[in-house]
Amino acid sequence: MTQNQALNEKKTCLITGVAGFIGSHLARRLLAEGCQVIGIDCFTDYYDGCIKEKNINDLLEQARFTLIRRDIVDLEDSWFEGVQWVFHQAAQAGVRASWGDQFAHYTHHNVLGTQRLLEWARHSGIERFIYASSSSVYGASGKLPMHEDDLPRPLSPYGVTKLAAEHLCNLYHQNFALPATSLRYFTVYGPGQRPDMAFHRFIRAILRDEELVIYGSGEQTRDFTYIDDIVEANLSAASAQNALGRVYNIGGGSRISVNGVLEILSRLAEKAIAVRHEPVQAGDPPHTYADTTRAENELNYQPRTTLEKGLEIMFNNFLEIR
Ligand code: UGA
Repeated sequence: MTQNQALNEKKTCLITGVAGFIGSHLARRLLAEGCQVIGIDCFTDYYDGCIKEKNINDLLEQARFTLIRRDIVDLEDSWFEGVQWVFHQAAQAGVRASWGDQFAHYTHHNVLGTQRLLEWARHSGIERFIYASSSSVYGASGKLPMHEDDLPRPLSPYGVTKLAAEHLCNLYHQNFALPATSLRYFTVYGPGQRPDMAFHRFIRAILRDEELVIYGSGEQTRDFTYIDDIVEANLSAASAQNALGRVYNIGGGSRISVNGVLEILSRLAEKAIAVRHEPVQAGDPPHTYADTTRAENELNYQPRTTLEKGLEIMFNNFLEIR
C-alpha cells in the first residue's frame, strides 16, 4: 500500500507524547490528512509546561483530535479504542540530564512506559506501531556513518533506556507478531524545538544578546534532521509493507560541527555571537552521522530540508513569536 492509499483510509492514530515537539508536529500533519488523532501526554515538568500547552493549542480546536492528560504507564484499554496506527513519541528526553537521581524518570517513561504500551498493543489489533528511537543508541563507536547493523553502545543513561525500549519493540514483534518499526531519529530541529536543545538555546541567546554556551571545542558534529522530514518518515513507515520488525536511521543527510552551526546563525542574525566554552558533557557522543540507505530503499525516505534552509526557517519562526 502506498502512503497516499494508506492515508486515504483516514486512520485512527494514537500519538504518545503529543504535546511535545515531535508529537505535536506529527498530530498536525495527520489531522491535515483527515485522520482521527488520539493524543496522550502526561505533561512532565522537564521543561516549562506552558510550551507544551502552546504546542497543542491549535490541535485542541479540531474535532478529530482527542487529548488524554495521563501517563501511559497507567494506561487503561478504554482510552485507545479503535486505534489503528500508534506513533510512540513519549519519552523522558535529554542526553546530558540523564545521570544521577533523574535516571528514575528515564526508566519510568522510556522503558516501563513503552512496555505498558506494547502490552496493550499486542491485544488491541493495531495495524502499526512506530517507535521513536534515537541516534543515542549508537554511542561513540568511531565508525561513520552509523549503520543500523552496527553494535549499539550508548554513551548516556538516556541512550540505554531508548535502546532498551527498541529491544522491547523487537521482542513484541518476534514473539507476538506486533507490527512494530523503530525509527532512530538524529538530533531533530525546527520551529518548536525543545528548549533544552542546542539550536533553541543558541537562537534564544542570540536574540537576547546573551552569551551562549558551547560544550567542549565546538568541533563535535551532528547529523541534524528537520522536523518535517521526521514527520514524513513516520508516515512512510506506517504505510510501508516491508517495515515490520525493522529499524531505520532517519537523518538529515549531512553532518556539521557546532561551530559550523554558529557560523550560519551569525550570518542569519547579521552579528557576531558571544560564546563561552564549558567542559564536554558526560554522555555526549563526539559525532553522529546517519547512513540512511536502508530508509531510502525501504521507506522511500529522502531528507528534503537542508540545514541552511531549516535553520533559517527556525530562526525566522523565533523572530515571529518572540
Ligand atoms: C538530541 C536530543 O536532545 C535527544 O533527545 C535525542 O535523542 C538525540 O538528539 C538523538 O539524536 O538521538 P543532542 O544531539 O545532544 O541530543 O542534541 P542537542 O541538544 O541539539 O545538542 C547538539 C550538540 O550541541 C551537542 O554536541 C551538545 O553538546 C552541543 N550543545 C548543546 C552545546 O554546545 N551547547 C548547548 O547549550 C547545547
